[in-house]
Amino acid sequence: MQVITSIAQLRKAINTVKSKGHTVGFVPTMGNLHEGHLDLVKRASDKAQCSVVSIFVNPTQFDRADDLDAYPRTMEADLAKLEAIGTDIVFCPEPKEMYPYGGLVTQVDVPAIGSLLEGSSRPGHFCGVATVVCKLFNIVAPDLAVFGQKDFQQLMVIRQMVADLDMPLEIIGAPTVREKDGLAMSSRNNRLTSEQREIAPVLNKLLEQLKAKLLEGNKAFEVLQEEVISELAKAGFKPDYIKVCHAKTLQLAEQGDSELVILAAAFLGDVRLIDNVPVTLA
Ligand code: PAJ
Repeated sequence: MQVITSIAQLRKAINTVKSKGHTVGFVPTMGNLHEGHLDLVKRASDKAQCSVVSIFVNPTQFDRADDLDAYPRTMEADLAKLEAIGTDIVFCPEPKEMYPYGGLVTQVDVPAIGSLLEGSSRPGHFCGVATVVCKLFNIVAPDLAVFGQKDFQQLMVIRQMVADLDMPLEIIGAPTVREKDGLAMSSRNNRLTSEQREIAPVLNKLLEQLKAKLLEGNKAFEVLQEEVISELAKAGFKPDYIKVCHAKTLQLAEQGDSELVILAAAFLGDVRLIDNVPVTLA
């Protein structure tokens, strides 16, 4: 496994791979890797001859400095996990390699999707995500890239960017990997106290209950959303949003819609958890 920190060296390594006629599968991450991330890497390895993973805690997508500082950095353990599953190349640049001017000058923004939900709660977040992913795509030049459906809205932002800017790669979405109790795996879960960790699976449980009601034909979306919000508050969460949306536009669901997704964000203490459950109505 090659571990590379400079853009120039990474480009050289990719050129060598491509000169052999091999395809490149890419998984961008911010490190602190868990089974959810590793599942994406395995999918990339299955589909391409060379797997590339980036580890970069991207400062431009954090709206709170304390959140950026608190983000867990576990490079040694991450590299060991990637090596163990046969990753070919890891790209782990320092912030000044990615942002020589200290921040964004040119930006990629996808406001139609990126300003809703997560984007409304975290202004500028998706602009930071789209810009860094655009940069990483330009650096790695992958044939395909794998993203988790755990970050449903992020995946939509990336797909839109790739389509609108004619980027020549395939985007693959992979299902959310969960703990046995249903909690979506996330680097943020490590910051939960043991008491909060016990409460955390309630989020997914309530989304699954909401899904079941939708499948039974209940279309009182607002009432159903409010029920989940009050149940979450009862369990000890500070809910941010629970929305039943059209899965292709992320606009609030309307009566005739059949492709839906329930999107949720809620705080446990100062840890913000997100989750989502897609629902297809007959
Ligand atoms: P990060 O949170 O490290 O996530 C990296 C990738 O792993 C994303 O595609 C995310 O959706 C996926 N992922 C996280 N938890 C998952 C789970 N439980 N199951 C399946 N996939 C999961 O998302 C980012 O980093 C950043 O925004 C990034 C795209 C790297 C840009 O900086």
